[in-house]
Amino acid sequence: MSAPLVLGIETSCDETGVALARGEELLVDAVASSMDEHARYGGIIPEVASRAHLEAMVPTIRRALAEADVDLGEVDAIAVTAGPGLVGPLTIGAAAAKALAVGLGVPLYGVNHVIGHAAVDELVHGPFPDRVMALVVSGGHSSLLMVDDIVTGVTELGSTLDDAAGEAFDKVGRLLGLPYPGGPHIDRLAREGDREAIRFPRGLTAPKDQAKHAYDFSFSGLKTAVARWVEARQDAGQEIPVADVAASFAYSVADVLTAKTIAACRRHGVETLVIGGGFSANSQLRDLAAERCAEAGIELRIPPIRYCTDNGAMIAAVGAAAVRRGLAPSDLDLAVDSSMPL
Ligand code: KG4
Ligand code: ZN
Repeated sequence: MSAPLVLGIETSCDETGVALARGEELLVDAVASSMDEHARYGGIIPEVASRAHLEAMVPTIRRALAEADVDLGEVDAIAVTAGPGLVGPLTIGAAAAKALAVGLGVPLYGVNHVIGHAAVDELVHGPFPDRVMALVVSGGHSSLLMVDDIVTGVTELGSTLDDAAGEAFDKVGRLLGLPYPGGPHIDRLAREGDREAIRFPRGLTAPKDQAKHAYDFSFSGLKTAVARWVEARQDAGQEIPVADVAASFAYSVADVLTAKTIAACRRHGVETLVIGGGFSANSQLRDLAAERCAEAGIELRIPPIRYCTDNGAMIAAVGAAAVRRGLAPSDLDLAVDSSMPL
């Protein structure tokens, strides 16, 4: 008998993601994005995103089924993002998932989005070893997770106290006059600059912060430092060396993320690191993580970028793992939680 077929639905932000996984095999991953509608506002507009999910949901489900050549009636379980994320968008996904679960008479699993960003790597690179470290970095989250079991054994060692890594890039992008989202533009500029040109601060690495915040991140002080540095230059009528600013800023972020993550791996004897979330596209982070993991003898796993940005496969991955473990499904009155803890 083949493994149960799980349909995963993701709607926590601007991507409508629908995927089908059979056991540990990903059959299809269909995504529709409303980013183009938000770009001109310089940020995600929740109501615009909700409306886009409502319009894209059924066509995206149909597309996934057609591409996998699967009938809806063959689906054995539904998994849906229950949080964290934007309440309106989450509600649209949850409503669709509940309707499918009731209509098909199959179990429903509410999934934590941040765990999904780590779990998707199991569909891409195979089952995790006993213990892995996962760094989940995007426009909405920066979390360091220790994973003993992807459904029942995830411990958050640290997270950002203020801005997420991608959010900090987007804010610095705005102050450098770059289009939204600024992250990829800073990445590109940084490759042409000197990362040692300006010594920007490393958040929460001072000895006084280490006891309480050994694995937490903070990027808002860094963002302010960049703003002050740029303003001082502008006030003095000097040109801004944009590539050097981008490179020095990006290096500060990548330095702190990788240093803290590798320290956590060492402290907990973890030999495999998974990086997920849309910010894992960042080349400064990728390069430094590869370099420092090689030095530390840690295996580095980063899924292809389409599985790092928000998608349905990450949710199907957690749902499939829950089904495999025989875990109880969620109640049909499952609520969404914009700040859902792990
Ligand atoms: O996961 P994602 O697509 O959406 C969220 O859940 O947030 O992540 C998007 C974030 C944005 O802040 C974007 O600027 C940032 O990731 N980002 C990057 C790069 N590619 C995407 N930041 C820096 N360098 C990149 N190459
Ligand atoms: Zn995400």
